[in-house]
Amino acid sequence: MNKNSFPLARRPGLHYNRRVPDSAGSSINATTRLCAVYGHPIKHSASPAMHNAGLAALGLNWRYLAFDVAPGELRAAIAGAKAMKFIGLNLTVPHKLLALDLVDELDATAKTWGAVNTIRFETRVADGGWRPLAEVATDDANELRAVGFNTDADAVVRAIGEDLKLELRGARVLFLGAGGAGRVGALRLAAEGVGELALVNRTASKAVELAKEIRQRFPMCGVSVGYPAGKVDLVVNATSLGLKPDDGLPFDQNQFALTDAGAVFDMIYRPAETPLLRAARLAGCRIANGLGMLLHQGARALEIWCGQPAPVAVMRCVLEENIYGK
Ligand code: ATR
Repeated sequence: MNKNSFPLARRPGLHYNRRVPDSAGSSINATTRLCAVYGHPIKHSASPAMHNAGLAALGLNWRYLAFDVAPGELRAAIAGAKAMKFIGLNLTVPHKLLALDLVDELDATAKTWGAVNTIRFETRVADGGWRPLAEVATDDANELRAVGFNTDADAVVRAIGEDLKLELRGARVLFLGAGGAGRVGALRLAAEGVGELALVNRTASKAVELAKEIRQRFPMCGVSVGYPAGKVDLVVNATSLGLKPDDGLPFDQNQFALTDAGAVFDMIYRPAETPLLRAARLAGCRIANGLGMLLHQGARALEIWCGQPAPVAVMRCVLEENIYGK
């Protein structure tokens, strides 16, 4: 008998029958349900730590995993999770737009904000309606569908409100970035009723396009392209500048001074203090990084999957520990 054909349970060093409680306080077994995040890259994601802590606090025998999925494999990866009756998925860069065409149904949030960061798998029930897989035993789930949601947009306004104690209605905002995250964030701020929104992006044509969309959809919002004159209540950074240690500021200091800003919100959460946030703190602004946004998009996704309030305090604590080692 070679080593590989030796029965697992009798291999020296393998304690196969020992119950090893993991973070959920229950062992993984045949009834354990799965959720996951797909991204590319994914290895630095804090979502598994945050979600598994949330699942444990709710006493659910579910686990949340992370998978590196290349864009060309996204369709197959979503179909695979559906076939294996996962509860749901989160999607991160670069999948949020691609997924719009890969789910069976779009929730109003995904339609409104034009991106999918959360999928819930559902099964057809006797009355012809659909129920989340979380509410049904896997043996009873046959006809399945994937429903796409967006929880990023609401997370931006919730994080800004909580972390900066800022009233967005009527506020003057300088908004930096018009990529994927920038588009959703700027549209959501316009929907929230900010008074003036000045959009700045390295590629100016993308800011122009976004301003056009905002003007059409939210005509009450005074949107413009370029730096604002005078003071603003809030600066939002939705560019990727600040992720790398030697990154500069995401705006032109000849065109705008942080002493003209009341508060600064940076969507980046790693590092905790980007060059922008450091400069803003030194200029006397109230500051917040993107941790609250990460938290709230995740908390809402968990609620969409399990139908009960997410343990937000526990999830925040674990995120801070995971990202900053607190
Ligand atoms: P995400 O999904 O994270 O928003 P993205 O869609 O690639 O990613 O958008 C990245 C944003 O950061 C864009 O606004 C991008 O500006 P461009 O539209 O001009 O590409 C901005 N960005 C990235 N690198 C930048 C840099 N070196 N200087 C200024 N802006 C930068």
